[in-house]
Amino acid sequence: MAKVTIDGHTVEVADGTTILNAARQIGGEIVPPAMCYYSKLNGSGGKCRTCLVEVTKGSEKDPRPMPKLVASCSTPVMDGMEVANITSERTLEARKGVVEFLLINHPLDCPICDQAGECDLQNLAYEHGASATRYEEDRRVFDKIDIGEHIQLHMTRCILCYRCVYTADQLTDRRVHGVLKRGDASEIGTYIENSLENEFIGNVIDVCPVGALTDKTFRFKSRVWFLKPMDAHRNCGVCSGKATVWMFGDEIYRVTGRKNTYGEVDEFICNTCRFDVKDLSQWTIEGPRVIENWSVISQGHYAGITEPIHKNVIGVGEKKDDVKLEE
Ligand code: SF4
Ligand code: FES
Repeated sequence: MAKVTIDGHTVEVADGTTILNAARQIGGEIVPPAMCYYSKLNGSGGKCRTCLVEVTKGSEKDPRPMPKLVASCSTPVMDGMEVANITSERTLEARKGVVEFLLINHPLDCPICDQAGECDLQNLAYEHGASATRYEEDRRVFDKIDIGEHIQLHMTRCILCYRCVYTADQLTDRRVHGVLKRGDASEIGTYIENSLENEFIGNVIDVCPVGALTDKTFRFKSRVWFLKPMDAHRNCGVCSGKATVWMFGDEIYRVTGRKNTYGEVDEFICNTCRFDVKDLSQWTIEGPRVIENWSVISQGHYAGITEPIHKNVIGVGEKKDDVKLEE
């Protein structure tokens, strides 16, 4: 076991645990953001650098601080290690730089993007982004490629996190897509335009942190915050059948895996549940999905709330000083 202190909170974790997972055991705002790491995908992490933290004390045996910021998703803790995340100016400054870098090529098309409202990059930019861009060069453009009946690829939005590649590798028996080419020419592609048709391939939509891979059966149907996410299950011979159905009235607009606090799917679902079963009679509704207060989706106050849950949100015509902030 190793004791690690992150932003003043100490936790004891198993040897080999990464700083990010140790932080997740503590929970709350000290947990670094992660755009490429995904706990259920082996080998993920180490690509996007959003999870950088400052190690102010290496370990009990060797207390020297680490000279450079480290990727918390791939750096294991040492006994006695001390880490600064939100208490480190250096980290916050670097995170700003990483967001700026990720946005170099990412189009600012949130108003028409299906991922808006549940996009990790949108959230990250909101927290750490600059209000203007310094980038003057042309953004990358790609020839449109069709990757199949159910999944839409918008390559310009891709941040090359590799999550979809690991998902296809680890959940399906024949991966037909990957990151092609190198450097700034890298892109997600299906060599010689194969389509992604495996029964579990729809999960690439859920793991994609941005709107690069979206559900064609749901595209442009509704903004996510107008829908009511409900936990539901059905008898499925292929997957667990446990999913979240996104409803408008009695209609199911889309089906996704159930995501946890860190935006990771609890159980991967099959394509049939995701794309083909939109008939309410085929699902047993368990109840409203708990969505974190910070998510724009919870603005719909759908979960049996009698008074507004967002008392901290300043309403139209209100000034900041008029609003009593809740603890
Ligand atoms: S398409 Fe999405 S999941 Fe795949 S590498 Fe790009 S950003 Fe990551
Ligand atoms: S989450 Fe650690 S590098 Fe991407």
